[in-house]
Amino acid sequence: MVETKRWNVMKTGTNNEMRIIEAGELLKAGETVAFPTETVYGLGADATNSVAVAKIFQAKGRPQDNPLIAHVATKEQLFQLVESVPSYVEKLIDTFSPGPITYVLPSNGTCADNVTAGLTTVGVRIPSHPVALKLLKACNTPIAAPSANLSGKPSPTTAEHVWDDLHGKIAGLVDGGPTGVGLESTVVDCTQDIPIILRPGGISLEELEEVVGKVMMDPALQSASATEKPKAPGMKYKHYAPEVPMWLIEGGSEKIQETYIQLKAEGKRVGVLANRNILEKLTVDEKISLGESLEEVASNLYDGLRKFKQGDVDIILCDTYPEIGIGQAVMNRLRKAASRYIVE
Ligand code: TXA
Ligand code: MG
Repeated sequence: MVETKRWNVMKTGTNNEMRIIEAGELLKAGETVAFPTETVYGLGADATNSVAVAKIFQAKGRPQDNPLIAHVATKEQLFQLVESVPSYVEKLIDTFSPGPITYVLPSNGTCADNVTAGLTTVGVRIPSHPVALKLLKACNTPIAAPSANLSGKPSPTTAEHVWDDLHGKIAGLVDGGPTGVGLESTVVDCTQDIPIILRPGGISLEELEEVVGKVMMDPALQSASATEKPKAPGMKYKHYAPEVPMWLIEGGSEKIQETYIQLKAEGKRVGVLANRNILEKLTVDEKISLGESLEEVASNLYDGLRKFKQGDVDIILCDTYPEIGIGQAVMNRLRKAASRYIVE
């Protein structure tokens, strides 16, 4: 157990600068510090220091073959970590960075080997959260940071989520309040002539195509079979699992109500995760609203998954969403979190 130092930087003030500098000092000294980004909280360590990076894997219980994303503050710093960059990458950077997008590019070896998990490529991202940017500037080194959750659990969108999973295991936590987007960055393989989405996220396929034309999806994302091996190693692991089993239900409020009645007959307590207008039509044991728009659903999803606790309910039923815009990322996460997918 280590004592986890906690800084609150939610209200603006001069003390915040000092707190962020202190957090940056810990990172420079080879310690792990969790911090907010616009997507989810990240668990950071100096990406050039393999001993520091190893502490991330240790704290999360993360499989060693799953590479980490290197976070930097500027485009110039991004270029310092990679070999060549196809011309479309500059267009993407100029349009979407800082923001919720990660570029997978040939590594030039600046990042420690355990950041890339032995791959020849490195994932790099410029987060847009002001606290993340200030922290990156304060320590002036690339920061490797996966989502700051225990491996397998939903990613953290509040400092409380991070605290629940990792206090006593990490050196520090910068509390910047709830994150915005709520789902992780879009991971784009930029080593080919055409960009390939390895993980859908905060920037949608449609938005990318508007800037660079054709964009592909990693075939492993579409096929339900195990034959396609995902190119983002992390995509093959069980992910985002709530404490109790979750079933994904296609068919709207009627199908959810019908499934509830069946489960009730078996003596189960049932919680439902859905939009407000769907919940209004349902008689079930517990309800958690994900909001109304797809953006709200993305933002509220991980908190919703974490709120249903063992003992409160035996099973969670969750509605499905149209796979347009951020809906693609929402459904990607829900499919991974679900133990069953019931289609009409
Ligand atoms: O929004 C985000 O991306 C958050 C915040 C903290 O920045 N980070 C995050 O990291 O989600 P993590 O480690 O939970 O997910 C990174 C994903 C994994 O699926 C990993 O396999 C993939 O990106 N990845 C990282 N480097 C890669 C590489 N060189 N090639 C292929 N996939 C890579
Ligand atoms: Mg993660």
